[in-house]
Amino acid sequence: MLSIKNLEAGYGKVKVLHGISIDVPKSQVVTLIGSNGAGKTTTMRAVTGMIKPTAGETTLAGKRIDGQDSYAIARLGLAHSPEGRKVFSTMSVTDNLLLGAFPRLTHHRARGDVSGDLERAMELFPRLKERRNQLAGTLSGGEQQMLAMARAIMLNPEIILLDEPSMGLAPILVEEVFKIISRLKSEGVTMLLVEQFAAAALNVADYGYVLENGRITAHGPAEKLKNDPAVKAAYLGGSH
Ligand SMILES: Nc1ncnc2c1ncn2[C@@H]1O[C@H](COP(=O)(O)OP(=O)(O)OP(=O)(O)O)[C@@H](O)[C@H]1O
Ligand SMILES: [Mg+2]
Repeated sequence: MLSIKNLEAGYGKVKVLHGISIDVPKSQVVTLIGSNGAGKTTTMRAVTGMIKPTAGETTLAGKRIDGQDSYAIARLGLAHSPEGRKVFSTMSVTDNLLLGAFPRLTHHRARGDVSGDLERAMELFPRLKERRNQLAGTLSGGEQQMLAMARAIMLNPEIILLDEPSMGLAPILVEEVFKIISRLKSEGVTMLLVEQFAAAALNVADYGYVLENGRITAHGPAEKLKNDPAVKAAYLGGSH
């Protein structure tokens, strides 16, 4: 579904990604694990077109997407729930969600049942339903994080890139987010997941990659990575 080959990207003269390759097969959940500053968010930005890769090749369902702008990539069905709650603060919760479906409303993607999907998104995130008419900027940080994720789902995408969806959430809501990820997975949604809770991410994922200083240093089936002594020592700590 998503294939990243020898991707290089950075900011100005600073190279962050030194040629990474990641494969996300259809209907699978792949997780990218790494320390703070390893380049996980940069990977997502380079794939979504927020920054331009300087080398490498990225394809979505066989189509080259590297070098294209973010909107064109979204139209092809790649949704992004970015790190740090990037919602439209002066718009309502409902309008934020509808904006996620915008490429569908302009016939750039199959329109499908947008209002039905809006209902479904509200069901997945009952907190958003209660606050559907509230301005997004007045939501709590955790609620904004959930809105960013729900908005990504509204594209009815081929693949969703989730950058730390549980960031800033209370433990009970972290659990809720992982349940939602499992539910989407069981519905066959393809995902690339970055999570601070590496153990939980490996539990829901089929496959994982370890990113260190902009290089992939290990990869394998999630089950195998979970039991890899080096991965355990570096990323799994005592958490479950
Ligand atoms: N906008 C930017 N301009 C310049 N450098 C940046 C920018 N964003 C990130 N970097 C640098 O790129 C490197 C990788 O950052 P990135 O945000 O991709 O890490 P990350 O793996 O997502 O970390 P975290 O777990 O903390 O979110 C870091 O050294 C960071 O300082
Ligand atoms: Mg990050």
